[in-house]
Formats: sequence, C-alpha cells, structure tokens
Amino acid sequence: MTAPSSSGRLDGRVAVVTGAARGIGEAIAARLATEGAFVYLADIDGDVATEAAARLVQSGVKAAGIRTDITSDASIADLRERIEADHGHLDILVNNAAILDATPLRDLTRERYDLVQQVNQNGALWATMGLLDLLKAGGRGRVVNIASIQGVRAAPDTLAYATAKGGVVNMTRALAVDLAADGILVNCICPGFVDTRMALLPDGSGHEHDTDWFKDIYIKYGRIPLKRAAQPEDIAAATLFFCGDDCRYVTGQYLLVDGGVSSTF
Ligand SMILES: NC(=O)c1ccc[n+]([C@@H]2O[C@H](COP(=O)([O-])OP(=O)(O)OC[C@H]3O[C@@H](n4cnc5c(N)ncnc54)[C@H](O)[C@@H]3O)[C@@H](O)[C@H]2O)c1
Repeated sequence: MTAPSSSGRLDGRVAVVTGAARGIGEAIAARLATEGAFVYLADIDGDVATEAAARLVQSGVKAAGIRTDITSDASIADLRERIEADHGHLDILVNNAAILDATPLRDLTRERYDLVQQVNQNGALWATMGLLDLLKAGGRGRVVNIASIQGVRAAPDTLAYATAKGGVVNMTRALAVDLAADGILVNCICPGFVDTRMALLPDGSGHEHDTDWFKDIYIKYGRIPLKRAAQPEDIAAATLFFCGDDCRYVTGQYLLVDGGVSSTF
C-alpha cells in the first residue's frame, strides 16, 4: 500500500487516538499526523505507544505516546492534564481502544461480560467525558468512535463484544445530539474484517484470514465483494473524513468499512 501524501487538511489540529500502540489505532494516528495534526497515541501499552509515536516523529510528523488506561478516571485525567499543558485544547478524539471477546455463550461469566462492556463501551464514553472541556475549548470538536460490524450484526460467540459495540453505535447518536450545541460532531466507524492481531484465532492456531473457511466463504465465494480483508490504513482513510472540516453536516452516523460484506448474505 503506498503511503498517502499530506493535504495539510488537519494542520494545527490536536488529536488523541486511544489504543494507538498498534493495529487500526496506530494507522489512524499515522494518517491524522500525516495530514498535519499533533497526535497523542494513548494506549494502556505505554511503551509500545511511545515507540510507535517515536517512529512517526522520525518520519517528520508531530506525535507523542502516552500510557492511558481508558477504564481509569485517573489515567484519563493524566492525559487531559498533559494535553491542556501542551496545547490548551483538543480538536479530535478517536475512541479506538478495545479488547476482543469470543467467549461462547455457555461459558460467558458476569465478570467477563462486565469487563468487555467496561473497556469497549464505557471506556469510549468516559474518555470522551474526561476530555470534553478541552474539545469544547477548541470550538471545532470531532469525536469518532471505532465500533464494529458486530455493532450492527451478530456472529456466533460474540455476545459480550457485539453488545458493547452496539452500545457504542447508539452512544454515538446520543452524544451527537447532546454535543451538537457545542459544535462537536460525533460519528462512528464500523470495520468489518481487518488484518490486525485482533484477527488472531483465540486458540492460538493462527490468523482467521488464513483459514480455509475464511478463504472459501469470504473470498472465493465473494461474501466480501471486494475479496480481501481490510488493512488498518483502509479504516484510517474513512476515519479521516469524520475528523476534518469536510465533515461539517454529518453527525450521529455510523459508516460500515467492510469491503461490502454487510451487503451480502
Ligand atoms: N481487527 C478487526 O478485525 C476489527 C474489526 C472490527 C472492529 N475492530 C475494532 O477496531 C479497534 C482497533 O482494533 P485492532 O484490531 O487494531 O486491535 P488491537 O488489539 O491490535 O489494538 C487495540 C489496542 O487497544 C489497546 N487497549 C486495550 N485496552 C485498553 C485500555 N483499557 N486502555 C487503553 N488502550 C487499551 C491495546 O493495548 C491495543 O494497542 C477496536 O475498537 C476493535 O474493536 C477491529
């Protein structure tokens, strides 16, 4: 995939991407930084986020890594303090951090279910709430929630994950309504199959996209009309629209970035 050149459309913006140490979050951070934003890569895996940010800085863009646990109010407060000290406001928040869950229904415990909701749904809400005054201060706030195709469809063994992601989709609408008066637009991206570590099989036997069943059903027989899994950069490209000035009359929406898989059956 060839690297996109900068349009400078985010020059002067300040952005936070949660879960940006790797995968989709890292690709979004790279794209926003390439377009001119100063990007904080906020991740519970602080060392890896810092290394990812250092690679971006080395490539000539503006970024910083910071350890942030989106389930901790204190950790979000630390992130807020750092942004306020450095910039005084925030323009873009991408709520991307999440954990995978593929627990079969019969094995699902209350503890596991609650943890998945806490990270995947509540984490996006409380990160937004914790940074809200900085988003308001900027006067042109954009919040993008990274949900999943599983927020609007269901698959076997995904009740906890799919319920949280469905919550994120409707939370996007509720936040969009409540924050419109502050000039903050809130939208949501629902990726389909994406080539990241989240696509590793839970039993450790390899990558979901390398299995015969995936190659047959989704590629050979065309359940994914575009006949490939997404790369993280595909998700980043769609996210960029919701982060900038081209998105000016769209709020409360979700966009499926799934190669067409949700259009087949
Ligand atoms: N990969 C896919 O196929 C796929 C499909 C649909 C949606 N998504 C969504 O895209 C987003 C990114 O997924 P990915 O595939 O890049 O996953 P990933 O596991 O590669 O990255 C997730 C990142 O989130 C971080 N994280 C986890 N818990 C955190 C916490 N409490 N606080 C801060 N950071 C935390 C992890 O350290 C990791 O760096 C997630 O919201 C995921 O649900 C992924």
